[in-house]
Amino acid sequence: MAHIIAPSLLSADFSQLNKAVELVDISPAPWLHLDVMDGVFVPNISFGFPVIKAIRPLTKKTFDVHLMIVDPDPYINLFRDAGTDRLTVHYETCTHLHRTIQAIKAAGMKAGVAINPHTPVHLLTDILSDLDQVILMSVNPGFGGQSFIPGTFRKLNALRELRNVHGSQLLIEIDGGVSEENVNKLASHGADVLVAGNSVFNAPDPAAAIRTLSASD
Ligand code: DX5
Ligand code: ZN
Repeated sequence: MAHIIAPSLLSADFSQLNKAVELVDISPAPWLHLDVMDGVFVPNISFGFPVIKAIRPLTKKTFDVHLMIVDPDPYINLFRDAGTDRLTVHYETCTHLHRTIQAIKAAGMKAGVAINPHTPVHLLTDILSDLDQVILMSVNPGFGGQSFIPGTFRKLNALRELRNVHGSQLLIEIDGGVSEENVNKLASHGADVLVAGNSVFNAPDPAAAIRTLSASD
């Protein structure tokens, strides 16, 4: 399967969000990655429902919402109502992860779990068959523009093997430090979705950057 590029709005010019969304809308990228941060789980605060709701009419692309917030359960329906298609919570924030995943699915969204760089893949073994996607964080969450952590390749291999063993169809998504330098290697190691913030929105020509990242394989 060809990989999916999910441009991350976090690196866009927030004073011109409509332009950033419209750029993605006419690009080959099928997903838009939206990072929601609470200043508690991660040392940064980004945006929430009002922003997601405001940009929803601008595109039909899949909204891939990555929650970096503690206690996401009370907000699941609000994210659905704002226009989320795929909702991912962090393993590290959910005491009752199975319940949270079922609630996301019951709300009509695809459900994902993200794991931090220090969290081993095998901790997902007993939730794997319930998941539509897993986000392997290839930086410590909180900021765009950080360097890719090379140990992610080992985790990518381990997750692919676990997925095979369980006969799961989940998508493996890599988030953080994805660039033209590592996109080919990640895709050839079996990454299905590649989030790209800095390498798209801080490129001299963001539209061309999406095309290059999407074409390589
Ligand atoms: C980091 C976010 C990422 C971020 C990636 O906490 O989860 O989605 O936007 O940005 P880049 O591609 O710049 O590393
Ligand atoms: Zn993200």
